[in-house]
Amino acid sequence: MVIEMLCRQHNKFLSTDQKMSLIHILSSTDRPNSNALKVSKYAEGLLAKKAETKIFSLMDFPFSDIVGGKYGNTPDSVKEFNQNFLSADGFLFVVPEYNGGFPGVLKFFYDYLPFPDALEMKPVSMIGEAAGAFGALRPVEQFEQLLKYRKAYIYPERMFIQRVNDSFSPETGLKNETLQKLLLSQLDGFPDFVERVNSLNVSVDA
Ligand SMILES: Cc1cc2nc3c(=O)[nH]c(=O)nc-3n(C[C@H](O)[C@H](O)[C@H](O)COP(=O)(O)O)c2cc1C
Repeated sequence: MVIEMLCRQHNKFLSTDQKMSLIHILSSTDRPNSNALKVSKYAEGLLAKKAETKIFSLMDFPFSDIVGGKYGNTPDSVKEFNQNFLSADGFLFVVPEYNGGFPGVLKFFYDYLPFPDALEMKPVSMIGEAAGAFGALRPVEQFEQLLKYRKAYIYPERMFIQRVNDSFSPETGLKNETLQKLLLSQLDGFPDFVERVNSLNVSVDA
């Protein structure tokens, strides 16, 4: 209800010819039936109130084409995946915790993004999810280091979904009311951040 009110207010500020921002969501694992994909779908439902959205899953990344180390000689299939993913105004990464870090496949994906400009001055938000008690705090903060290296603008509100199998419902979100409010706040604020950063980018380019 609160979110819907905010959306109506927000849309009043968009002139009729102004496009909503496009946010791409990356489900950052190739594991079938992953919680990251379920969380991505839930997050998409909320972001879609203020932005155009599309989910990408690393299940669809052409990993078989990079076996043997194709650095500097990126296969067309990977270029295509990357170009499609990067054609957005902002990005939400949904990242699970694997062995105290983020999934190795996410690093493979990251190492094949065009250098240096793929994420430069692009707004990025992060959600972590894990079976354990720390809710993927470690992988989110580790991945933030990589985002900073590639000069992305990181949205300061993050969510760490701990005990994801018990605490999260794909239909209704987080069972803990306080954490759900934080998640709603992050996903309500991020589209505004995307718009603001992109308007700054336009002034810089002009
Ligand atoms: C290879 C692997 C390593 C994992 N390591 C951790 C870990 O270090 N800490 C943790 O809390 N959970 C760990 N888990 C559990 C996952 O965080 C949990 O199942 C999560 O929901 C998996 O996300 P996914 O379904 O998107 O793959 C691990 C799971 C896998 C598959």
